Amino acid sequence: MGKILILNGSPRAPRSNSKAYAQWFTQVCPTETETYAITRDNHLELCRAMENCDHLLLVFPLYADGIPVTLLNFLKTLEENPPQHKPTVSVLINCGFLEPEQSEVAISMVELFCEQNSYPFGSVLSIGSGEAILNTPFRGLVGRKLKQLAASMTRRQGRRLKVTMPLPKKLFLRASTTYWENYGKRNGITRAQMETMDIEI
Ligand SMILES: Cc1cc2nc3c(=O)[nH]c(=O)nc-3n(C[C@H](O)[C@H](O)[C@H](O)COP(=O)(O)O)c2cc1C
Repeated sequence: MGKILILNGSPRAPRSNSKAYAQWFTQVCPTETETYAITRDNHLELCRAMENCDHLLLVFPLYADGIPVTLLNFLKTLEENPPQHKPTVSVLINCGFLEPEQSEVAISMVELFCEQNSYPFGSVLSIGSGEAILNTPFRGLVGRKLKQLAASMTRRQGRRLKVTMPLPKKLFLRASTTYWENYGKRNGITRAQMETMDIEI
């Protein structure tokens, strides 16, 4: 298989979990990879980079049950500037909630793009508890799935893989609530403030 182009579609790409997942993927993937973060200004450059790859791996977080605007805007540019040779598109998505199934709609959005623009659709790895899992003893489960994703892409198996922390929902909810409350405290924000729709006060 030819080169894999990896695009990070997280709005906070330089400090993102997507960056960590993409980096780990490159370490376990036997095929040559080239990685870029999607920015406001590099859409056309990325469309051109696609000419030299057989496979595109979109790495991004779930935002409000959909794809983040960083990725959405890039797909709009790609629609207008398609490469001559269309790569197979695979997805590596992570979400904050425990259930990787939360990301099904966002995956469908990429599938629809592929269908409407004649890109072959490849494999998927959907990571639940994506904000937390890398800092727990369960991180090894992610490594195993990343290897399976690389193999599925290489062999063009089109697998749909999932991974999350093997915890009861109640326990996860309690632990994540405590985590975010403490995070808020460190930044002078109360739980009540976090529960409002205000982004900046
Ligand atoms: C604005 C915003 C919306 C989010 N929406 C969801 C969501 O709908 N479901 C979910 O499970 N996680 C949601 N999350 C959590 C992110 O998917 C999670 O923190 C992820 O690890 C972020 O990845 P990144 O660091 O690569 O951007 C949201 C996070 C933000 C900041």
